[in-house]
Amino acid sequence: VNHLLGIKYLKEEDIRLIFETADKFKEVINRPIKKVPSLRDVTIANLFFENSTRTKLSFELAEKRLSADVVNFSAASSSVKKGETLIDTVNNILAMKVDMVVMRHPNPGAGIFLSKHIGASIVNAGDGTHEHPTQALLDSYSIREKLGDVTGKKVVIVGDILHSRVALSNIYALKLLGAEVKVCGPKTLLPKYIEQLGVEVELNLDKALAWCDVANMLRVQNERMEISYFPSTREYVQQYGVSKQRLAQLDKEIVIMHPGPINRGVEITSDVADSKHAIILNQVENGVAIRMAVIYLLASKLK
Ligand code: CP
Repeated sequence: VNHLLGIKYLKEEDIRLIFETADKFKEVINRPIKKVPSLRDVTIANLFFENSTRTKLSFELAEKRLSADVVNFSAASSSVKKGETLIDTVNNILAMKVDMVVMRHPNPGAGIFLSKHIGASIVNAGDGTHEHPTQALLDSYSIREKLGDVTGKKVVIVGDILHSRVALSNIYALKLLGAEVKVCGPKTLLPKYIEQLGVEVELNLDKALAWCDVANMLRVQNERMEISYFPSTREYVQQYGVSKQRLAQLDKEIVIMHPGPINRGVEITSDVADSKHAIILNQVENGVAIRMAVIYLLASKLK
């Protein structure tokens, strides 16, 4: 059975194939009739054990654009609340002849665990602080679209790296595609193993911005913290927030990215988030084509 559990398990050629497939689907979803009949015989369950706006709707749209049958499951309104286990939940859904599972879960490795116990394809839609592979794919795809290629580009990932599945998946994807990668954030929000991933650390945001072609701004994930990792929001904004004034000090234009949801006024000001430098909504748009490509390629191996 084929899964997409993390970028860690992909090769460069897998990512390039996903991008080429997404290029074709991007054409499709810009036509007046946005659908193809490719997955008419495939049923997909979207299982969300954690909140989501972009990923959930983007997967559902991608599946519908491919003509798959779709069922949506939200843990908050399910029998998980009565104590049903993950494996029981998924096996009951699979008993209804579901072919593929898209799952977001708060526990790191939840998809890997499930893949050992069920017989359906699994797509990881974010597993706790571990990986968010389709986010990294759509991020690199958006850099490729904006700058022509990812290879050789200088990308800095800024903010709460410690709690970010987006950061880890992006690091894997960008390195596979030949980008130079730095991370920038307060020391308390950088994991101890960060340099083992082949990325450099830059603690000073102004230096990081002066170095990069692209800055991917991350949200501070207070919901994943039992203690506060930074003295105050005001100090965070001063040291690690991107503002128009900060960008005006650079002698070049850089591309600004954000996976969403944005904490406006914290990691990024509205005048940057809504500016022509930001490709934040392009990232969201590309998410549908990327997820169509991932699902289509996995489903082609079901037959
Ligand atoms: N980027 C992202 O994963 O957003 P959601 O949590 O809204 O899906």
